[in-house]
Amino acid sequence: MEQHEKWTQPEPLWRENMSLPSFEALKEDTTTEVAVVGGGITGITTAYLLAKAGKKVTLIEADELVNGTSGHTSAKVTAQHGLIYHELMKHFGEEEASLYYQAQMSALQSMEEWIDKYQIDCNWVKEDAYLFATTKRGAHKLENEYEAYQRLGIPGGTIDALPFDMEATKALSMKNQARFHPIKYLAALIEEFVHLGGEIFEHTKATDVKEKDRIEIQTGDGHTLACEKLVSCSHFPFYDGKGLYFSRMYAERSYLLAIEPEKEVPEGMYLSIDEPKRSIRTAEYNGKPVLLIGGESHKTGQGVDTSFHYNALEEFAAQTFGIKEKLFQWSAQDLTTLDKVPYIGPITRNNDRVFIATGFRKWGMTNGTLAAKLICDYVLGEESLFHDLFKPTRFKSDPSMKQFLSQNFDVAVHLVEGKLELVADRPNSLKNGEGMVVQWRGERAGAYRDDDGKLHVLDTTCTHMGCEVEWNSGEHTWDCPCHGSRFSYDGAVVEGPADKPLMKIALEGQPDNHAPLGESNEEELGEQP
Ligand code: FES
Repeated sequence: MEQHEKWTQPEPLWRENMSLPSFEALKEDTTTEVAVVGGGITGITTAYLLAKAGKKVTLIEADELVNGTSGHTSAKVTAQHGLIYHELMKHFGEEEASLYYQAQMSALQSMEEWIDKYQIDCNWVKEDAYLFATTKRGAHKLENEYEAYQRLGIPGGTIDALPFDMEATKALSMKNQARFHPIKYLAALIEEFVHLGGEIFEHTKATDVKEKDRIEIQTGDGHTLACEKLVSCSHFPFYDGKGLYFSRMYAERSYLLAIEPEKEVPEGMYLSIDEPKRSIRTAEYNGKPVLLIGGESHKTGQGVDTSFHYNALEEFAAQTFGIKEKLFQWSAQDLTTLDKVPYIGPITRNNDRVFIATGFRKWGMTNGTLAAKLICDYVLGEESLFHDLFKPTRFKSDPSMKQFLSQNFDVAVHLVEGKLELVADRPNSLKNGEGMVVQWRGERAGAYRDDDGKLHVLDTTCTHMGCEVEWNSGEHTWDCPCHGSRFSYDGAVVEGPADKPLMKIALEGQPDNHAPLGESNEEELGEQP
């Protein structure tokens, strides 16, 4: 079995051989009509649509464009969001469940229109999507889901066998869905946005918002971007605006592999509904068909050793399709709302200047595009059939309230549990490239030894709301189990809601760290291999 040189680094297939245009950071105070924060599919599409409608739009991104969840997706463009329609009918009603499907399909159709209009070469392929079950219970759930499809008029049907080497008890199709290459697609929308006069600033982190006569966004570099309307598309909202979003969503990580299979690739996109969940779709790489195999979701910061997840997917891929070459592996983080429907609309009731789009579960391609369309309507003062279903201030307390309590209980448990956890390990057992929670001078701390043998020790208290971060050995990051913030091995923020780095703990003899502790820590540092 061959192995691509990138296999061991977490990097998505989508970035290979792709270069996006780069943009400077904002270096002075400036004013715009609409500010869009976040350079993923939602932010880019929103910016493009508003610029097309004649607005002066400025998009800022904390890192580089398409480097977050949109660049790490499996890029299925589908309204088949797992088992959702039966549940939506139960909790929201038949009309809302039907609107959910129509909204997702309208996003898919818009994408198709733009691809056609701008002749975007992004490997867009129309395919059916399938959910499949491997247990009797799962088959029963699929029957219920199919009943919902029939009631809602969703084209699809059931089959009893899969077109690849896997025993299934039932599968349910949804017709006419799509898959594509997200970065090729977004590169074209970025180009069109710039062509329409849109401004982009990368490496410009929005840190705070002041809602005055006009809205003022503060940046990490101390500049102000003033605007009439603000659209927050930053995955986890960078600004809460009293919307309590941190208590109304939870973050999950999931993993993906790209492999060249030994067996033929099947037509269609697949997702299993029984555990362990597996997602399968075809993609193109260097002119050859390859498979993307995904799964192994867990709440951020609550997984086992993350390399275990990649291994489990590899084992599944080897058993089911055979592996000719291991190409890429990467992970993504997604946010889920209390009732599984994204929050898209005004940040709080009656706020007609600040809009938010978040909580896409794992379905950011259609939800992100949909969010852009809906927010564009809000900004332009146009009505939409779909606004009420997605607005963040909706109150359907069943099952939201139960979920609200359980999510916050979960956060409270992690907050307390992390503080009480007894840690026995000392950093001297760390090899190069390893990290773990250790005991440092009697306190819980996070230690990582880099490839040069240098030790980095951090306070593991998350700077968002104080939960304890855990080591993610697959990505070499510190992840927070409460709301999904992630930090690099040296404490820098990789992903919010936290906006401040983890506090470094100073070590003697390592000048890059802060002031020395004042007494010898040789024993804790140990030999550096
Ligand atoms: Fe909220 Fe860490 S992300 S406490």
